[in-house]
Amino acid sequence: MSKIALGTMLQSQGFGTRRWCRELIESGELMVNGAIIRDPRASFDTNNLRFTIYDAEWIYREHVYICINKPPNFECSRKPSSHPGVLTLLPEQFSRRDVQPVGRLDHDTTGMLLMSDDGAFIHAQSSPKRHVPKVYVATTHDAVTPELIAALKSGVKLHDEPAPMAALRCEQVAEHEIEIVLEQGKYHQVKRMLAAAGNHCRALRRVAIGELTLPSLDIEEGAWCYLNPDQITSAGAAFAI
Ligand code: URA
Repeated sequence: MSKIALGTMLQSQGFGTRRWCRELIESGELMVNGAIIRDPRASFDTNNLRFTIYDAEWIYREHVYICINKPPNFECSRKPSSHPGVLTLLPEQFSRRDVQPVGRLDHDTTGMLLMSDDGAFIHAQSSPKRHVPKVYVATTHDAVTPELIAALKSGVKLHDEPAPMAALRCEQVAEHEIEIVLEQGKYHQVKRMLAAAGNHCRALRRVAIGELTLPSLDIEEGAWCYLNPDQITSAGAAFAI
């Protein structure tokens, strides 16, 4: 059993500075197990610790693991320049606890984006040594041909890449649409591969990471959900959470 003082707990969950959290508790804003607790030093077991603040219920989480269904025109960068950052789609507590995207999608790419405040998890998932397949649906400018699919599967030469880059799998799903599975995560990789194969990417959506698929999470574009340990594992996590 691991116990935590309520002031420290609120701060760790992104509710503000140590002083602000203490004042929140002393002014009676925090309820634990249905009772208002005004002592910031009162300590509780972190296991399944549920609390209410500003009338919203939360569960204590040492780390958060989130999937967001990214809409277009949001940037994954920490310092977005031309569009709002993806963090603006999440409750503000998450940016205070340093939740970050796991890897990046282009501002105009939509779909599955994992986010976390667990540095070890982010590092492990983003490592080039990890080969977690990522599934994209790309809408093409020109009609898809068997030659395009063959080129993407056998490998195309990208500027600055020593060896040709090949899709793990690639198939046509509509006249102007392909599903392409990549193991690497190079800069603009799908768009550059399509361009190198003589077509052009008009829209791109990531629909799965590892075994975890976006439809299975059933979240609208712009919405997000917590991932449970099984879902994190199916997204190819390198270690058990
Ligand atoms: N490939 C791209 O070209 N863009 C993305 O956002 C992801 C993969």
